[in-house]
Amino acid sequence: MKSSFGQSVNICIAGESHGEALVAVLSGLTPGIKIDMDYIRHCLSQRAPVGKISTPRHEADEFEILSGVFEGHTTGTPVTILIRNTNTKSKDYSEMASAARPGHADFTAEAKYHGFQDFRGGGHFSGRITAVLVAAGAIARLALKNKGIEIGTHIAKCAGISDRYFENVAEDIKALNNKCFAVLSDESAEKMQAEILKASEEGDSVGGVLETVVSGLPAGLGEPWFDSMESVLSHFLFSIPGIKGVEFGSGFAVADMKGSEVNGELRIENGKIVPVNDLSGGINGGITNGDILKFRCAVRPTPTIFKEQKTVDMKNLENKTLCAKGRHDPAIVHRVRAVVDAATAITLCDMMAQRFGTDWATK
Ligand SMILES: Cc1cc2nc3c(=O)[nH]c(=O)nc-3n(C[C@H](O)[C@H](O)[C@H](O)COP(=O)(O)O)c2cc1C
Repeated sequence: MKSSFGQSVNICIAGESHGEALVAVLSGLTPGIKIDMDYIRHCLSQRAPVGKISTPRHEADEFEILSGVFEGHTTGTPVTILIRNTNTKSKDYSEMASAARPGHADFTAEAKYHGFQDFRGGGHFSGRITAVLVAAGAIARLALKNKGIEIGTHIAKCAGISDRYFENVAEDIKALNNKCFAVLSDESAEKMQAEILKASEEGDSVGGVLETVVSGLPAGLGEPWFDSMESVLSHFLFSIPGIKGVEFGSGFAVADMKGSEVNGELRIENGKIVPVNDLSGGINGGITNGDILKFRCAVRPTPTIFKEQKTVDMKNLENKTLCAKGRHDPAIVHRVRAVVDAATAITLCDMMAQRFGTDWATK
């Protein structure tokens, strides 16, 4: 099992949904990054469940920083973050010890760990683990802010309802980072929430598409071939539970477009080369071109649903039906947004450190 990611900046995560605690160790960060505890809390609140559109499992997500921060700043040595699980109801999972939830990782974990896996609440495959990733990502975002790099993600689509496109990227990023349900159009936000509620009442779930933009990135980031910007970012994004597709710029749509539509232009502005209207998402040849970085992630409907489904008893090798129990999100797209922001921030810190050295974020 590979629980760590990154070359110059590296994250290692551990924990289970119903275990004692979740831990992240973030290594290789620039010394001297000012730690804003309220900002970390703010990022965690964007992953936290809200109202009836999320799981009723509410966790305080109080985090402790155990190492790597001294007198309010990163020291440059590994930062260890711990979040305790305080609201677990493992009884709900007693039937699911042997009955695999279709679409979840119960069967694949059994196939890999031969019954020794902690199955409670999805164990290591639960979205719960992402809490500590978001806390680490918040610190990475503080480092990026030192260089004027900002990340914003919106729910571009949920249950077939679309949000508006980005217009003024700087203003839209600011607005999104103050929203709990990250949708640019209030009207679309209401319609999406109504669809999530409807799915929840039917014991079902819905999915969506997250669209992320990053402003302020320099041209020249990315380590082709195999650590190209797209390769590294999508590696991390596909590691997030529930993400089933990643595309950069216009993505799969370029297959139906002409070169003249996708290429955009290059021009000189204030003595600098700048790409204009390029639909590649800010990356050419695996290297950033200085334009806004743009990508989308497809987020699946939550696998655990409260409808009867055919599955198997993994211990007795019998077919059976299962109506899931426990506390689950009728949609995860709005919560995964904070995780995507965190994954993006950690990846970009790594790429910046590889290009400019460990001290890239020193002010
Ligand atoms: C923040 C977050 C919350 C999630 N909540 C749930 C949930 O309540 N119920 C569930 O079945 N899956 C939930 N998931 C998704 C599962 O963890 C994921 O679908 C499962 O591990 C299988 O992985 P895969 O979908 O990538 O194949 C959540 C994921 C995230 C990131």
